[in-house]
Amino acid sequence: MKEFKRYLITSALPYANGPVHIGHLAGVYIPSDIYTRYLRLRGRDVISVCGSDEHGVPITIKARKEGITPQQVVDRYHEIIKNAFAGLGIKFDIYSRTSSPTHRVTASDFFRKLYDEGKFIEQTSEQFYDEEAQTFLADRYIMGTCPHCQNERAYGDQCEKCGSTLSPDELVNPHSTVSGAVPVKRSTSHWYLPLNEYDGFLREWILEGHKEWKSNVYGQCKSWLDLGLQPRAVSRDLDWGIPVPVEGAEGKVLYVWFDAPIGYISATKDLTADWEKYWKSEDTKMVHFIGKDNIVFHCIVFPSMLKAHGEYILPENVPANEFLNLEGDKISTSQNWAVWLHEYLEEFPGKEDVLRYVLCANAPETKDNDFTWKDYQARNNNELVAILGNFVNRALVLTKKYYGGVVPACGELTDYDKETIAELSGIKASLEANIEAYRFREALKDAMNFARIGNKYLADTEPWKVVKTDAERVKTILNIALQITANITIAIEPFMPFSAEKILKMLAVEPFGWDNLGSMSLIAAGHTIGEPSLLFEKIEDDVIERQLVKLDEIRKARLAAEAAQNVTEQKAEISFDDFQRMDIRVSTILAAEKVAKTKKLLKLTVDTGIDKRTIVSGIAEHFTPEELVGRQVLVLVNLAPRELKGITSQGMILMAEDASGKLELLRPENAVNAGAIVG
Ligand code: MF3
Ligand code: ZN
Repeated sequence: MKEFKRYLITSALPYANGPVHIGHLAGVYIPSDIYTRYLRLRGRDVISVCGSDEHGVPITIKARKEGITPQQVVDRYHEIIKNAFAGLGIKFDIYSRTSSPTHRVTASDFFRKLYDEGKFIEQTSEQFYDEEAQTFLADRYIMGTCPHCQNERAYGDQCEKCGSTLSPDELVNPHSTVSGAVPVKRSTSHWYLPLNEYDGFLREWILEGHKEWKSNVYGQCKSWLDLGLQPRAVSRDLDWGIPVPVEGAEGKVLYVWFDAPIGYISATKDLTADWEKYWKSEDTKMVHFIGKDNIVFHCIVFPSMLKAHGEYILPENVPANEFLNLEGDKISTSQNWAVWLHEYLEEFPGKEDVLRYVLCANAPETKDNDFTWKDYQARNNNELVAILGNFVNRALVLTKKYYGGVVPACGELTDYDKETIAELSGIKASLEANIEAYRFREALKDAMNFARIGNKYLADTEPWKVVKTDAERVKTILNIALQITANITIAIEPFMPFSAEKILKMLAVEPFGWDNLGSMSLIAAGHTIGEPSLLFEKIEDDVIERQLVKLDEIRKARLAAEAAQNVTEQKAEISFDDFQRMDIRVSTILAAEKVAKTKKLLKLTVDTGIDKRTIVSGIAEHFTPEELVGRQVLVLVNLAPRELKGITSQGMILMAEDASGKLELLRPENAVNAGAIVG
């Protein structure tokens, strides 16, 4: 394997049109942070760059919706995102932004070089234009029905329901999201990067040269290549973005996916004057951390741009993750279906590592995964508290108790001690191999194994019992337990840096450095440790319940919004006579009880003004008997009687139900006499 002198780690630049959520974290930022921290711990020359992606249509749409400028949108979210990353200990060497002056120049120059060297083709084509708003409708400015799944709210660049990549021309019934108007076609000219000319290069570089890439990434690249690459437009008719640096290109900006990845270069320039050694030397290993929706841009488009430019290196790996769902549903910024990082940090102070742990342990490395609050609770209580926290606490508290906090000397080792130590010494190699192969879930298990083995060691050796009979032996046991604790601070640092730091404080020692991992002489006998405190605390049911209620409210609001859009079509026309034949009366509910052995049915006794009769109604899941008694309702009284669960139902209670399943009984606004005729 090739030895690299330095590492350049990039993490997908998040769009500054909304805050960062757990899906972004699990897919991109936690893995990149673990990888970078690991390399840094090993003393490698590594930089990690990121920043806000501040151009593109999602941002102008957001601005329009809120009646503010795109600049105000990106200023707001840039701050929120940047602070939230810092709060979770996601440590970039620079968190830059694509509205920065450096970026504007870098992206412009990049385009200009390719333009001057004839690497683009210029093409005129007919594109959708909104005559009302007097604007071309790029990407998300156009919506219509997806030709693949019939979703009526597919965008001009993508259908979020089935995930297909679309072009505006494929949409059925296209309409403008700016004005709602049906667009017309107007001709416009743009610059295209002829990706088809890079087919040979890409095949050799990826399909031949990078068979080691994750199978989801390699597979997607192969299928793109097999479908045949087409020239791709790198400019847009928009007024938000980096102006196309060419004479006569007024009103045109660089396509956001052209400028954004160049942001990795600009960020590096903003970080260090020595940026070229990272971008222009074959000794640099560049790794792009991204989510699966970014694969084509980072494996096909950006590498073709880099190749066309000619001065820059290509990524060595692109360990893209699949998606994380939330409680069974796809995470969505526009639908507000997410756990937002900045909110989590506010609601769970001191629990940064819990989120980092859960998102890594459950990372969607090979397939989509689901985040549930119950799993979050279980992993905290059963793994972090019961294994890691418990072990560290026992080792420190016993040392305090028996030796006043002074580390006892290690005496003669028993066979069991030796076995334990041997087991521990094997972990380092596995942990390294897993991180270097981007298997962070497995790597986290390795790190946790120090605590697992430590816990078992204490449970098996029972120093709290032995102390009564063999005080010398206990010294050795606790010395070993403390050495394991010291090892834990090294092993968990990439994953849980806050906890690593806390343990170091409790041990009253400085960080050890990666090479010491596995050593059983990290803390000298005679050293005095600090004050032990709990590393993790149990998360109670009510905390989880609150989060579930919050999500439930969002789900309901979404269903209601969807229902408002999903009005069922009008039924076939009826005559006035048809209507007159229905006898609807205001009735009063006199009694209500559940029908035995059914979930949905209530048996109601109602006063229709004509008589008192029995009606069976399927509303038990929406109303309790108590809330119904005394209430007035509308009853269709001349409906033919029906037998339901052995009860004869004489009529039907009228109610309104929307597409979300919300049910309301109809009643007169003010009480009237039972028997009043409705019509
Ligand atoms: N903003 C994009 C997204 O969130 C990612 C851009 S990555 C970059 O999907 F390379 F283009 F910067
Ligand atoms: Zn679709």
